[in-house]
Amino acid sequence: MPTVIHFDSKEALSAAAADAIIDAAAQAIAADGRFLFVLAGGSTPEQTYKLLAASERRDRIDWSRTYVFFGDERLVPHDDKRSNYGMAWESLLKDVPLPADHIFPIHTDLPGAEAAQQYADTLTAFFGDGAAPSFHVTLLGLGDDGHTASLFPGMPSLHETKALAVATPPGVLPPPVDRITLTFPVLNASRIALFLIAGESKAAPVQAILETAASVDAYPAAGVTAPGGEVRWMADRAATSKLRE
Ligand code: 6PG
Repeated sequence: MPTVIHFDSKEALSAAAADAIIDAAAQAIAADGRFLFVLAGGSTPEQTYKLLAASERRDRIDWSRTYVFFGDERLVPHDDKRSNYGMAWESLLKDVPLPADHIFPIHTDLPGAEAAQQYADTLTAFFGDGAAPSFHVTLLGLGDDGHTASLFPGMPSLHETKALAVATPPGVLPPPVDRITLTFPVLNASRIALFLIAGESKAAPVQAILETAASVDAYPAAGVTAPGGEVRWMADRAATSKLRE
């Protein structure tokens, strides 16, 4: 089960998430000489990204030793307002001294299956043949329907055990565009799977996952267990409002 850390507000959550990422980066670089960081999409992480890019925090990460990947992407151009890359670029990546070849976007100018294969090949090339991808911090969100990354309820992607990334149709939540997503084998190889969860609309999936034996098919976020690492949920009071006291 995840470690759940409660915050009174999304602002407090975002600041604590930025500091947790900074701490994890320092530990990763001290131990491994580099920080391998997977960004989440959607809207919740944007505040955290802006805090990481702001002057009071920006220099607390050694960006020259940091490598940035994406947990999932919408199959739209990177300058489309729905693009996860576009959101990360505007809120973080354009404002930190991260070498351009340390950013690994998902290429959305390819058909889904090709884009997924291309990203899987990118990960294989980065980690080396035979070495399973393992990230220091994988940021994740929780969809109102219990999805995470672009692993949606009831989809075949939930049962993928080999491919590192797959193409998937959209779930029931907007935007209704095809996606590319990392699969559970990759997400579960993370040292820290860090969920940022805020807002009343998350209260039902939070309760379902933490207080019932929610199936992964129904609530895919329950499938992120990071057996060799830790799963940390940073959640605001609105998102945890349905939990038993
Ligand atoms: C995406 C995200 C998705 C997101 C959740 C929560 O591409 O939409 O990767 O998994 O994290 O849907 O989204 P919000 O942060 O906008 O609530």
